[in-house]
Amino acid sequence: MEVSSYEKSYQEIKDTPLAIFVFEEDFSNLKYADAFSEKLNKVLSAENFKGKEDTLIKVPLLEDDTIRTFYVVGLGKKDKASFDDYRRASAILIKRLKKDKVPFVHIYAGETVDYKKSKAITEGLILGHYSFDKYKSKKEESFSVERVSIYRGYEEGIKVGRIFAQAQNYARDLVNEPGNVINPITLAEIAQNLARECGLECKVYDEKQIQEMGMYALWSVGKGSATPPRFIHLTYRPQGEPKDRIAIVGKGLTFDSGGLNIKTGDYMRTMKMDKSGACAVLGIMKALAELKPQIEVHGIIGAAENMPSGSAYRPDDIIKTMSGKTIEVDNTDAEGRITLADALWYASSLKPSHIIDMATLTGACIVALGEYTAGLFTNDDNFGDRLLEISRETGERLWKLPMDDKKLREKLKKSDADIVNTAGRYGGAITAAMFLEEFVGEGIKWVHLDIAGPAYFKEEFGYYSKGATGFGVRTCLEYILSLDKGT
Ligand code: BES
Ligand code: MN
Ligand code: ZN
Repeated sequence: MEVSSYEKSYQEIKDTPLAIFVFEEDFSNLKYADAFSEKLNKVLSAENFKGKEDTLIKVPLLEDDTIRTFYVVGLGKKDKASFDDYRRASAILIKRLKKDKVPFVHIYAGETVDYKKSKAITEGLILGHYSFDKYKSKKEESFSVERVSIYRGYEEGIKVGRIFAQAQNYARDLVNEPGNVINPITLAEIAQNLARECGLECKVYDEKQIQEMGMYALWSVGKGSATPPRFIHLTYRPQGEPKDRIAIVGKGLTFDSGGLNIKTGDYMRTMKMDKSGACAVLGIMKALAELKPQIEVHGIIGAAENMPSGSAYRPDDIIKTMSGKTIEVDNTDAEGRITLADALWYASSLKPSHIIDMATLTGACIVALGEYTAGLFTNDDNFGDRLLEISRETGERLWKLPMDDKKLREKLKKSDADIVNTAGRYGGAITAAMFLEEFVGEGIKWVHLDIAGPAYFKEEFGYYSKGATGFGVRTCLEYILSLDKGT
């Protein structure tokens, strides 16, 4: 789908359908439709359409013998309309156009559509257009909208929005692939191909090298699987001196059966999504190669499959991590934090100023916040607050959870080893984050995003389709761009 900008009156574009974005109880934007605005106003009031957010109405009007098609899309109250309202409005529109098999549309979203609005609209269009249907023999819904033009759209916003959304869709495509297609070995191959295509550096460590580096935590989690683990290190290096160096770490469980503490059927279903953090990292790296910020970014993935077998790691096992710290295994289903122990330590060894990790880490985080919000945990409140602020624009909901509960932290130390991998049911998302913090190097500012809830939805809504969401891609990219701009 091509997204572009145009500047013409309604008279000049009459032969294609027009979408008009309106505010709740403020339909002033209809004026753009010229002679039709009066009729539109009448139809909307007759149909009781108010312009509330997440609403759309199709209005075909007759002019002599020709039908003029309008789509009126609600943004909610004018003073409250956020960038995410524009994003969702665009997605709802594109989903409807796909259904109506409309190949071209013009969008009127007001007289001034600045950088941020143009970006949000473009993201909504491309995200909303996404579907994962490659395995369906009959492609019933495969109609593609070819071209969307935004009235006075801001070219740079459209360009960056497209890169953001395509990176996110790339991540979604990877997450949606099942465990029989993406395993640690094929995930590493995908990373290498991406690096080759985009001009990134990529180093993959196999199971032998993983052990040689002392990453017995990652290795242990992966050793029960027929497909051995891989450690993936991608690097985006700008031309010239970078302004900053950061690392993005993603949990990469290509499938999480629970291991010997095996999950029951209902909970095992969808655990192909346990690689969402890793796939978000790949999407981010892909976008960076196009955006070319003056920031050095390391993408780090510990890829493993958590399976039960005669060679699987067990409850009671004591594992030595790359950091030298030892972990006692209480539950083999709390495997993500074990793999991340080595990944975070390795990332720290690169001496970045900041680390963000993304992980579908705990069911407890979904219990705490619901499935639409990711948990944010940090060792640096300024850094955490910066990401919270950015997330309010990207529409990826984040909420901070506390890390200062000493009594809760003590529970992780009740072990024959330095640390145990679970600390009871209460505050499970927090104790998981506290576990991770042990493996972040001194002086490095770190944020952990527990994306277990919003990484994958069983039903479509807004700009999401059923399945993977690519959650985290937009917020991390926006953060990296803000470092580049120095804002
Ligand atoms: N990958 C899961 C967490 C998860 C659950 C992600 C639901 C997405 C949806 C993680 O590895 C896990 O199994 N966590 C356990 C931890 C427990 C054993 C301490 C959990 O949340 O039940
Ligand atoms: Mn698990
Ligand atoms: Zn897991």
